[in-house]
Amino acid sequence: MFTSTNPTDINEVIATVPESSATEILTVLRTAKNAQKGWAKLPAPTRGRIIANVGRLVENNKEILAKLITKEMGKVYSESLGEVQEVVDTCDFFLGEGRRLYGQTVPSEMQNKNLFTFRMPVGNVFVITAGNFPTAVPSWYIVPALLAGNTVVWKPSEFTPAVANALTEIFHAGGVPKDVLMTVVADGVQTFAALDAGLKEGVINKVGFTGSTEVGRKIGAKTGEYIQSACLELGGKNPMVVMPDANIDLALDGALFAGFGTAGQRCTSLGTLWIHESIYDTVLAKFASLVENAAVGDPFKDVLFGPMISQKYLDNHLEHLKMIQPHHKVLGYSSTGRITASNPRKGFVGDPEKGVFAHPVIVAGITKADQLYSTETFGPLVTVGKFSTLDEAIELSNGHGYGLSSAIYTTDPQNVWRFREGISAGMVSINNSTSGAEAHLPFGGNGMSGNGSRQSGIWVLDQFTRWQSMNWDWSNKLQKAQMDLIEIKHDPKFMLNIK
Ligand code: UN1
Repeated sequence: MFTSTNPTDINEVIATVPESSATEILTVLRTAKNAQKGWAKLPAPTRGRIIANVGRLVENNKEILAKLITKEMGKVYSESLGEVQEVVDTCDFFLGEGRRLYGQTVPSEMQNKNLFTFRMPVGNVFVITAGNFPTAVPSWYIVPALLAGNTVVWKPSEFTPAVANALTEIFHAGGVPKDVLMTVVADGVQTFAALDAGLKEGVINKVGFTGSTEVGRKIGAKTGEYIQSACLELGGKNPMVVMPDANIDLALDGALFAGFGTAGQRCTSLGTLWIHESIYDTVLAKFASLVENAAVGDPFKDVLFGPMISQKYLDNHLEHLKMIQPHHKVLGYSSTGRITASNPRKGFVGDPEKGVFAHPVIVAGITKADQLYSTETFGPLVTVGKFSTLDEAIELSNGHGYGLSSAIYTTDPQNVWRFREGISAGMVSINNSTSGAEAHLPFGGNGMSGNGSRQSGIWVLDQFTRWQSMNWDWSNKLQKAQMDLIEIKHDPKFMLNIK
């Protein structure tokens, strides 16, 4: 059994759910695989209408779902509402795709022959997601996968089973058959064993994974063994560059939200704030003061951020604090680590002893040689460093090998275009936070952040469909491509004779 608790008050149990073994997951994978052909036979516009139903139901249940998210994983309620809205937006986008899902008609090099392309579903999809976005990120996989005619087995985070079951119920209420979307709760070991067995047996035809780079590497290697490529959405160390010509207050608003919103537990959270040397001291001082005065505590109240998702995430954060070196300057507050009665934070909203809350931390003076330069911290810790030229800022932004999100604050279009061209990240924000991507632009990263797969919008369809090409020769004779060429006479030496 898995028990999820409220990270704001760890004595409050949110849900106790059965835990599946690898064998049980494999049975579920087979059931979903068996249902796939029937689901794919439904006309795509009908599947689109089912997605429309789901979108409306999610919208009608927005507050209930958002409350559950805040209770089970601790993000502030306004962010939870935003997250549920992202599910609605995803459904709204894909309901229409049911009436498109376009293929092409392509001219043939021969007469009386026609060429076509069709998008084919890949089969049964195994979706494995993290606890920080327990509805939005899963919907980025589930909605397009179902729309395209695939079945889905979803393994959500063991920290958010109540939210996962609630979302699954909504899909079923919207008309998705129970064997077309199946949700299993399991630990990492059992999930990986089921992944291996399911790939071997052919009941997993595509994997979607959002989580750490470390686990993504293992999943990528495993799917590679079976000649598959997973859709991987992994970690980030997202840079934000502040140029001397930037609107500084705007940049700091962005840095505060990107760095500490969701307690820094977004894959798009701010990693390092790179400040131009000419404004470094003043911008850093302002940032420190904003963080010192930010409200932390009960996520149902007006705070910047609430608790960590669970003790595991807090422990992880405490490990990262050990990477702080003597040459660093620690700002944001007088203490670091867990917030308790004996390690308090000024103005804390609620009772810190009841939950898993962490002090926000700024680690200034970061250099390329530091461990924190290239470590995704996934908590309320932002590193800050300085640069002298834009080229150096780009070099520092790319140098750790992650490439998910990035941002530049500047009023000079030259800087914008040079940054866009030089940055290796999959997503670039101009005068905006590294987090908060809209749900219909391609979402994904490069390098250690992902294998080039993209979610969201039309781009994700390439993850959940395979192109089938068809040629139809109606000439009633064997026409040989590349050999039966239609030769046209021409004069290669022709020159105009005009004086
Ligand atoms: C994630 O943390 O895995 O862009 C996704 C954002 C959100 C999604 C984050 N829309 O910050």
